Amino acid sequence: MATELPTTDIRISAEAIRHCKGGTPIVCLTAYTYPIARLLDRHVDLLLVGDSVAMVLHGHKTTLGASLEMMIAHGQAVMRGSARACVVVDLPAGTYEATAAQAVTSARRVVDETGCQAVKLEGGLDMISQIEAIVAAGIPVMGHIGLQPQSVEKDGGYKIKGRTEEAVAALLRDALAVENAGAFSVVIEGTVERVAADISRRLAIPTIGIGASGECDGQILVIDDMVGLTVDRVPKFVKEYADLRSVISHAAETYAAEVRGRTFPGPGHVFSATNSRDDT
Ligand code: KIV
Repeated sequence: MATELPTTDIRISAEAIRHCKGGTPIVCLTAYTYPIARLLDRHVDLLLVGDSVAMVLHGHKTTLGASLEMMIAHGQAVMRGSARACVVVDLPAGTYEATAAQAVTSARRVVDETGCQAVKLEGGLDMISQIEAIVAAGIPVMGHIGLQPQSVEKDGGYKIKGRTEEAVAALLRDALAVENAGAFSVVIEGTVERVAADISRRLAIPTIGIGASGECDGQILVIDDMVGLTVDRVPKFVKEYADLRSVISHAAETYAAEVRGRTFPGPGHVFSATNSRDDT
């Protein structure tokens, strides 16, 4: 039976997320920085320090630009900025696929150096030994099936999954493999709606959808997409809940005009020699 998540500042565990299957949808967003984690923490159940950080904050063309050091630095910032959300950090490409031992070493470093609740890795049947080994080491794992951004070069682009019978069968195999290997939940990305819905019904662990189905047990979006900060192409599955591009552009335009017109700084933004009460 699905259980309710705590509403206080008690950190939500991966195990608590596992028990949300079939209950109130699990609210997830990516976060990469301290101030954003502080703003989101009270509203979400799970914060993902996704390897999308390589594209979103560092300007790389794909998530292959992420490194373990990058993920750890952003994971630490998000942990400092949050008190309640379950924080999951992505294992970046090249740090877990080779062997189960490599996967455990990377996962252990991420958890020890950030204090996060779990790690996420991409893959299905091909990653069973990695998931099993990390879970056996006592670290909760979130799976990631369907469109896998770390495979975008191999796949020849961002291709929606589940459009042929063969692809549907492969997706179901992957989903069950990830669950049987011990993952506490699984992200389903860029997958035909009815296929994602069907997988969600068949799995005992929560599915987290992105470009998948409203029938998933939770939803996730990239924070910069969701608040309208993304400057490049915004994927079809994104809903922009704000337009921060315009807000920031307008603020910068106004600031530039005031600096050039010498109306900023005004009297309230400078210090007098005599009044030390308002020094801060
Ligand atoms: O890296 C990321 O942001 C992700 C989400 C899109 C699920 O993996």
